[in-house]
Amino acid sequence: MKKLTTLCLLGLFVAACGSEGDGTDDLDERRDSQEDRFVADGKADSNGIEDRSWKAQCVLNVANRATLAELDDDMSLWSVAAKNIVAGRPYDTLEALDDVSWVGWYAFNQMSSYARDHGHCPALGEEYIPAGEAEDTVAVAEAGMAHIQGKFDEGQRPALRDAHPKAHGCVKAFFEVDNARLPASMRVGVFAEQGHEFPAWIRFSNGSFTISPDPEGDIRGMAIKLMDVPGEKILERARDAKTQDFLLINTPVLMVRNAHDYVEFSQKAFDGNPVSFFLKLNPDEWHFRELVITLKTLAKKIASPLLSRYWSTTPYRLGDEHVVKYSARPCTGESADRPADAGDDYLADVLAASLADGDACFEFLVQPQKDPEAQPIEDPSIEWDDARTPFLKAATIRIPAQTFQGPDRAAFCENLSFNPWHSLPAHAPIGGINRVRRVVYDAISDLRHGLNGVERAEPVDHTIPAQD
Ligand code: HEM
Repeated sequence: MKKLTTLCLLGLFVAACGSEGDGTDDLDERRDSQEDRFVADGKADSNGIEDRSWKAQCVLNVANRATLAELDDDMSLWSVAAKNIVAGRPYDTLEALDDVSWVGWYAFNQMSSYARDHGHCPALGEEYIPAGEAEDTVAVAEAGMAHIQGKFDEGQRPALRDAHPKAHGCVKAFFEVDNARLPASMRVGVFAEQGHEFPAWIRFSNGSFTISPDPEGDIRGMAIKLMDVPGEKILERARDAKTQDFLLINTPVLMVRNAHDYVEFSQKAFDGNPVSFFLKLNPDEWHFRELVITLKTLAKKIASPLLSRYWSTTPYRLGDEHVVKYSARPCTGESADRPADAGDDYLADVLAASLADGDACFEFLVQPQKDPEAQPIEDPSIEWDDARTPFLKAATIRIPAQTFQGPDRAAFCENLSFNPWHSLPAHAPIGGINRVRRVVYDAISDLRHGLNGVERAEPVDHTIPAQD
């Protein structure tokens, strides 16, 4: 009520004083003109609240849950704004809330502060699913499938992965648990038993949707498949398989925040014009942070797939108590020194040369989430600060000296499927990008295996096909 009085005193909304709520034609007219003022100021944007962010979810939670008294008295919103918020529930986007009459930057600001102070923000490990994600997921899957089908129709044989189609090699490895520095609550899933050694396959790849020369800037992938992992897995189709996958890339951050953005990004990338995702005529629509990540990633030079660090970028549960990101760090450190004569396939060549000479090794690390805002679950374009929350060692990956090139191994490699959801529940993926991947990886793998006339199967053998 006190805000209404203030309104009257200001003399700005005199007619509104008598009728507080919405409903009259007169009021609608005035509200529209007022609304225009606020909209022109860019309510949510001016408070630094990005759509689908942790802060946005805080505001939506308050808008959906707070009582009228809380909105009106505790948050000191205009009474008419508080009433309209309650009347217009539920809100599943900032935009919808932004459209409510009398709700402007002030209301956003108050709700945002109140949410933080009164426990309305998403907690550690809590997912918050933005509106439209299911539709966006279908769009991502459909775009990927159309891309593969299109290439196949043009004559590409075999049908390749939609992302990471270029393999540098599939190598045999061993994953030895080293949980000595993990707290007891993190010694779960595959990290439960100190010293336990899982046989593993690792596929090193380039991320680009097309097969490009290795000297070109690209994301590099490291997909790890542990073998002999007991216990039921998350996905129905491979529930009883004895494998468990971890997927990593050589950047700590993804250049896409969520499913919504991925739809646009992948469409532009498939059309060969990814830049138009980042930069548009209207600077308000730029994806500047994502552009910086992309440029940094593309500028990264790696000497060898064995001398690059890799990260999961997206979070995973670790038992009931933790959420972590993963990283694999070369035991001997990273190197950006490319061979002077780096050819189109130099990454496969140096991988083969290194493993002909001797073993390689990575430390497998986990980084626990400690701050739900600074280390959000739903936005893998934000790095979880290593200095603040250091990675902890969980295992050592040993890649013994071997020969891995040859047609049998290449075919085996091509027919493997890696999927972040092919996992023990103790390592369940979380966050929007991972939720999208649950649908997309399966659909893509099914399609390419179907087109190639190859049955999808998890490997059961660590010795065949082998030239080592
Ligand atoms: C919405 C986001 C993403 C989509 C739609 C997507 C899509 C795909 C698809 C369709 C494949 C091929 C799967 C197959 O046919 O077997 C793939 C492979 C891969 N993805 Fe993603 N991806 C996404 C995000 C990520 C992220 C965040 C990472 C970070 C680690 C990642 C790492 C990889 C790797 C390493 C491979 C290669 C797996 C292999 O070697 O077979 N992807 N991705």
